[in-house]
Amino acid sequence: MFRLALALLLSLTFATMSPAQEAAPAPDRSATGGAQTLEDIMARQRGEEVDNSFRSNALGDPDSAAGMANQLGTLGGSSDPELWRALRFGEANVTSTSRGPAATTLIQDGGMRWLLFRQGPLATYGSYLLGGTLVLLALFYLIRGRIRIDGEKTGRRIERFKAIERFGHWMLAGSFILLGITGLISLFGRKVLIPAFGHDAFSTVALASKWVHNNVSWAFMIALVMIFVMWVIHNLPDRTDINWLLKGGGIFSKGHPPAKKFNAGQKLIFWSVIVLGTSISVSGLSLLFPFEINMFAATFDKLNSFGISAALGLGELPTTLAPHEEMQLAQLWHAIVSFVLMAIIFAHIYIGSVGMEGAYDAMGSGEVEEQWAREHHSLWVDEVKAKEAAAPESATPAE
Ligand code: HEM
Repeated sequence: MFRLALALLLSLTFATMSPAQEAAPAPDRSATGGAQTLEDIMARQRGEEVDNSFRSNALGDPDSAAGMANQLGTLGGSSDPELWRALRFGEANVTSTSRGPAATTLIQDGGMRWLLFRQGPLATYGSYLLGGTLVLLALFYLIRGRIRIDGEKTGRRIERFKAIERFGHWMLAGSFILLGITGLISLFGRKVLIPAFGHDAFSTVALASKWVHNNVSWAFMIALVMIFVMWVIHNLPDRTDINWLLKGGGIFSKGHPPAKKFNAGQKLIFWSVIVLGTSISVSGLSLLFPFEINMFAATFDKLNSFGISAALGLGELPTTLAPHEEMQLAQLWHAIVSFVLMAIIFAHIYIGSVGMEGAYDAMGSGEVEEQWAREHHSLWVDEVKAKEAAAPESATPAE
């Protein structure tokens, strides 16, 4: 299920990443003896897809090499350009004394596409997404105002989250915020921080950021597992969610749709955190241990065989990727999914703090005003009260 969701998310990303490309008709290359022409170069610069097979297949033919007649033998049937093409298209038979999966890849030209995408659309649309979310939240605050407790407060408090649950939540929240800030420093450092503070200052900040980002990631992953184990049972979809969603959570209407411990909106937040957080963690691990976890070739293979890539108009996705390409895709994926989760978390932080009266207490002290609980989680209050009534002697007062 997770793999399918990942595959879907991946396809969507790549659907938006690849610019509209049209196959250009093969130009007449007789003037260059079959080598690329000015028109090939211009077509590539216009962003058109150029069928490169005339180059990737022109790698020389060792079988037609002239025999080693004297000291000046042949190069084995390949000219220099053919050898370079073989290197560029990953077909050369390279051996190297240094070990490691990437040692024998001498040329990997996808690096430029990755760099341009990272500096361009990723940074631009990522900042639009975060900025746009903040503007929408500010507008929401201006239009709707703070969601108040409608009824009379009772003065009684109900325990909502135990200390271990709050610990897990704050470990997740604290690590996510640190990872978000240090991640943004890495992405925007060159564009924003170096011009503002200079290279020397940025170098110190970048080193510290990288250290924090790499090490705090473990806290995030542990906390992710903790909250999954503790809260998954309360986040399974049920019938009450449909009614809650149809009424838009009662945000703009009078009255509150009934909800259990977590309402449908919170369940969406929970599953976004779990699914996107896991995807960010896996791609992050693949970046933390370079060339050891390669997920993209295998995912592309699945997308091709399920026909998803074809259905999305992406054609056949490449299933043989250079080790560096795996890393480049992992970095882009890691950043794109992080941007999406950051935007979702902005909304969560808003509603859990200034946006709703009484909500913060749930994660602050762990106890909420009973009236708040009745308004937002009426079915959960009924369950708590029923349990208390069933076992009055074991019911402990709130901490
Ligand atoms: C300063 C930042 C944050 C504040 C003030 C905050 C506040 C809260 C509050 C008050 C609740 C309980 C809501 C209830 O009683 O029903 C909650 C739940 C939760 N929080 Fe946070 N939170 C913050 C950051 C985060 C971050 C960064 C994450 C994840 C990356 C996160 C994930 C969750 C999840 C999954 C839940 C349970 C589902 C839900 O209530 O939406 N929180 N948070």
